Amino acid sequence: MADILGIDIGGTGVKAAPVDVATGRLTAERAKLATPHPATPDAVAAVVRDLVNDFGWTGQAGVTFPGVVTSGVVRTAANLDPSWLHMDAEDLLGTATGLTVKVLNDADAAGVAEMKFGAGVGERGTVLMLTLGTGIGSALFYDGILVPNTEFGHIEIGGKDAEKRASEHARETEDLSWGKWAGRVDAYLDKMEALLSPELIIIGGGISKRSDKFLPKLSPLRARIVPATLLNDAGIVGAAMAVTQ
Ligand code: BGC
Repeated sequence: MADILGIDIGGTGVKAAPVDVATGRLTAERAKLATPHPATPDAVAAVVRDLVNDFGWTGQAGVTFPGVVTSGVVRTAANLDPSWLHMDAEDLLGTATGLTVKVLNDADAAGVAEMKFGAGVGERGTVLMLTLGTGIGSALFYDGILVPNTEFGHIEIGGKDAEKRASEHARETEDLSWGKWAGRVDAYLDKMEALLSPELIIIGGGISKRSDKFLPKLSPLRARIVPATLLNDAGIVGAAMAVTQ
């Protein structure tokens, strides 16, 4: 099967690479451009178009979005401009790029990629993937089947939105030590375990390449906690996979 271009729109950067969806491998070095601010639909669409043009891409493309997406339409946009709400992102990005694009939630994409090619391979029962980055994204699986748009980054911990306390962004902006931040992640994971009783929790997102810094500091749960293995490429791979599903 021909490669598919995967594009991952984040609160900080927009990344893209062609993906061999049979193996989950990137077939060219990934390109990254900064997310424009304000991150309005037209500004982000222009960045997506630039990435498509950088690769000279004319084939299929999958795109992740950091918010709830149903049937290609954006329903929430916690970390991008509110003018995204109710926008048909497949239409917008399709027009901007001249391609047919599929759009889905970023954490769902990352989770699907980890289940197929990464830390979730062969895992049954309830698996929870959490991405800790600009926000907190979640992807919930039962026997490998995704329940989309779960948005567990927005449950409340101590009266605050969880992602405001325990995202990688919170660690950076509040200049928290790894130990202090791990305490916040602990409180969040305790709550998720109480709600869902997963067998496995996969930690991905921007933080996953530094898992040695904080995973050993987390308190044990009944669930196994493992780092994502596709690291920050999971969104790109999952975006491309979504086109074939
Ligand atoms: C959004 C989610 C997204 C996550 C990670 C949250 O603020 O609500 O949809 O998956 O950030 O980008």
